Amino acid sequence: MFPVSLTGPSLTLREMQPDDVEALHSVYGDATTVEHLSFTPRTVTQCSTVIDSAVQDAQTDPRTVYMLAAEFDGRLVGAARMAQDERPHSAQIGFAIRHDLWGRGLGAELVELLLRLGFEQLRYARIWGARSPENPASQAVMNRAGMVEEGRIRRHLRTDTGWRDSIVHSVLCDEWSA
Ligand SMILES: CC(C)(COP(=O)(O)OP(=O)(O)OC[C@H]1O[C@@H](n2cnc3c(N)ncnc32)[C@H](O)[C@@H]1OP(=O)(O)O)[C@@H](O)C(=O)NCCC(=O)NCCS
Repeated sequence: MFPVSLTGPSLTLREMQPDDVEALHSVYGDATTVEHLSFTPRTVTQCSTVIDSAVQDAQTDPRTVYMLAAEFDGRLVGAARMAQDERPHSAQIGFAIRHDLWGRGLGAELVELLLRLGFEQLRYARIWGARSPENPASQAVMNRAGMVEEGRIRRHLRTDTGWRDSIVHSVLCDEWSA
């Protein structure tokens, strides 16, 4: 599906574009924002590479990766990713909001938009996310979106500080539509 454009009360979920690079860097370049993610703060060049890949993925047919911008007030303030699993009924999400905007409901709205995209438009049967056990904000937004905790993947990720477990959340299409 291309292009994605979904609007909620505050955010628009849309395709990434090359001139998003500085705004993406203000999200992915921030140490606090990426503390619980699988990577260290990204440089501007790395953010540019992320956008190049997003643009390329958006042209793939069939499309399996949606790396999208969350726009607020005309500017990218967050990043959202939905990647189809090997089993094509299921997809994993990831999301981040710029640090200075935390606590205003944007994270919850972003996850809602991703679930709308995944269930209403892409027709997935299951959508899941994996968070750090030490990430209560991610836990709160996924719980609020109806993504129940499924369990723990031990040693899921290797970060620069060592192994990290993940807590998996998921929601099924029939749960979501109810
Ligand atoms: C997760 C994230 C997107 C949430 O964004 P946000 O805009 O602050 O989200 P919201 O304002 O919608 O909600 C934040 C929720 O977290 C809760 N929260 C935040 N910090 C918390 C803490 N330290 N302890 C407990 N709850 C916390 C808030 O109370 C709120 O829950 P509520 O709506 O039930 O009250 C944001 O923190 C972020 O970008 N984090 C870095 C990237 C990341 O961790 N992504 C998730 C990867 S799985």
